[in-house]
Amino acid sequence: MELIIAANWKMHKTVAETVDFCRAILQNEALFKDVEVLICPPFTALPASSDLLRGSSIKLGAQNMHWEREGAFTGEISAPLLLDLGVEYVIIGHSERRQLFGEDDSRVQIKMKAALENGLKPILCVGETEAEREEDATEKVIKNQLFVALEGLSAEQADSLVVAYEPVWAIGTGKAALPRDAETASSYINEVIRNKFGKEAVNKIRIQYGGSVKEDNIGSFAVLSAIQGALVGGASLEADTFSALIQAARKAVLS
Ligand code: PGA
Repeated sequence: MELIIAANWKMHKTVAETVDFCRAILQNEALFKDVEVLICPPFTALPASSDLLRGSSIKLGAQNMHWEREGAFTGEISAPLLLDLGVEYVIIGHSERRQLFGEDDSRVQIKMKAALENGLKPILCVGETEAEREEDATEKVIKNQLFVALEGLSAEQADSLVVAYEPVWAIGTGKAALPRDAETASSYINEVIRNKFGKEAVNKIRIQYGGSVKEDNIGSFAVLSAIQGALVGGASLEADTFSALIQAARKAVLS
């Protein structure tokens, strides 16, 4: 399966900074062969990214969306508004949204459904907190998050799904998970998916690892059999660093 490496810029970058990044990353596009690369800028930088990346192999994702198509929802952005800008993917249930904005599993569920019904490909984030890890509850947490988020979806809808395994304690801390722990968690995600949607789905759904991914550790995740890419925060903010990370992943997989 093709690797999928996504840049999650969170609340970073003005339009001018976005333009610089996109111009710089486009210079390296030829080096990303066989890797699906996507940028998830803040909403305000989507139009500029869309203009610059159009016609290239680099795709666009959003960091969040509202589940209704339109209406009186001050401050929200819907799937049709994202599609209008050429957005293809949407991150759903990122731990920062869960922890800082009270997004619970039932919200994640309606967003997943809305994304898929509108033709956006969700990147569903799951993962345990430090306390849950210490309680040995990682599998239980992942299972619950997946169960609720995937409720009501058909196997066909699930085909385009990307699941990002992001242990919360690894995000932005510089302390990535051990590859063998990421592999165990990702294999478990596959098991839940197999039970829910059947064997075929495991071959179609891609699992990313996320949490302090950098150029020097991406290779150890990219080679794992249950992992097909990464969701990258801090190390995706500079075009050079992000390009080097993508190339390191390619090299690890090809060698
Ligand atoms: P990080 O963030 O790479 O800065 O740890 C990852 C994420 O939040 O998706």
